[in-house]
Amino acid sequence: MTTHRIQEMKRRGEKIAMITAYDYTSAKIVDEAGIDMILVGDSASNVMAGYETTLPITLDQMIYHAQCVTRAVTTPLVVVDMPFGTYQGNSKLALQNAIRIMKESECDAVKLEGGSEVLESIERILSAGIPVMGHLGLTPQSIHKFGTYGVRAKEEAEAEKLVNDSKLLQEAGCFSLVLEKIPADLGKKVAEMLDIPVIGIGAGRHVDGQVLVMHDMLGLNQAFAPRFLRRYANLHDEYLKAFRQYLEDVRSRDFPSEQEQY
Ligand code: KIV
Repeated sequence: MTTHRIQEMKRRGEKIAMITAYDYTSAKIVDEAGIDMILVGDSASNVMAGYETTLPITLDQMIYHAQCVTRAVTTPLVVVDMPFGTYQGNSKLALQNAIRIMKESECDAVKLEGGSEVLESIERILSAGIPVMGHLGLTPQSIHKFGTYGVRAKEEAEAEKLVNDSKLLQEAGCFSLVLEKIPADLGKKVAEMLDIPVIGIGAGRHVDGQVLVMHDMLGLNQAFAPRFLRRYANLHDEYLKAFRQYLEDVRSRDFPSEQEQY
């Protein structure tokens, strides 16, 4: 999978499927399923490391997760989130950090949150030949500015800024754009306006593709239940059942049996 093929999918009207992954074993299954793109999201900060926000995860930690994923992958395009503090306000540092991600993880592209505020960083990274995916709407690295994880761009001024930012990102050369948690009508408007593929998470059904966080769509994280989330499994209950059965089997001396020993 290449960024060009992803763009061709939009031109052909084929919907694009993206899932987050952070480790070798899960990424191998995502690859086997034929998913188009893997996002090594900074949501690793929440679902892997247990932090409340995406802010604490470091560049080294993101590179570690990305390395685990790229070792597993044969086909999907692997995009890696640049973590908070590695690209804002200093485009030279942004380029250095993007180069580190590309060199050390051998991924295919990086993703940055924000529009006009981070445009200089995006342009500098693109100038080195590194594909960039944009991310607008609810940008979790700005949670302390927003104050809540609620739907963004419901008001006209914020919606207008989002539309303008999405044009800027396309003009700068981003190969694709994530729109998170915005009204479906706005997602549709941006997807129709842009030539590059728009991948939504809570941005409605009329965008060019969808992305979900693996732990959420597998039902591992029961506490997180926004309206946009469809659960494809209930792995929390499956894990719990298996762990409880194992505990019972060890305590009752059922495991290991005669056949399970040397
Ligand atoms: O970090 C992440 O998982 C993301 C998705 C929510 C798009 O950025």
